[in-house]
Amino acid sequence: MGANPSLGKADLLSAAAKAEIDRWTAKFPPERRRAAALAALTIVQNENRGWLTPDLIEAVAEYLDMPPVAAMEVATFYSLYDHAPVGRHKIYVCNSISCWLCGSERIIEHLEKKFGVKLGQTSPDGRFTLKASECLAACGGGPMFMIDGRYYENLTPEKVDEILGGFE
Ligand code: FES
Repeated sequence: MGANPSLGKADLLSAAAKAEIDRWTAKFPPERRRAAALAALTIVQNENRGWLTPDLIEAVAEYLDMPPVAAMEVATFYSLYDHAPVGRHKIYVCNSISCWLCGSERIIEHLEKKFGVKLGQTSPDGRFTLKASECLAACGGGPMFMIDGRYYENLTPEKVDEILGGFE
């Protein structure tokens, strides 16, 4: 009988990541550990410089007692997970209806021109990965974007330049 190659993958998770995941799983009954999948994938992604490898996704699955394919489905469904190296900061520009009506396309164009990249790509200096996002629930402040989990609203090209100047 061959060895199951996915067994022992959970060892890829750091002690700190496991401790943080444990805080999430504690909120659910033991048989529902997988309810922490989104949080666990986010924790592991943050620790791996912003992206997930198939091995790390399997590690999360094993740690949460869920089938690897189910973890993979979650990780590939949501745009907040990346599957290739990214820049030091991710910019999610909301392009849903309210922000679009307020000029999100202009902000995206400005960023694409500024970095010389298209949506989904990373600036040549490795600082920023540019992404479009569905509604981030800050519709009254459009156009807006989120960088590293923080919201910036009522954007103009000038304001964008000012904000990005504060990032290394
Ligand atoms: S439409 Fe942009 S935050 Fe809702």
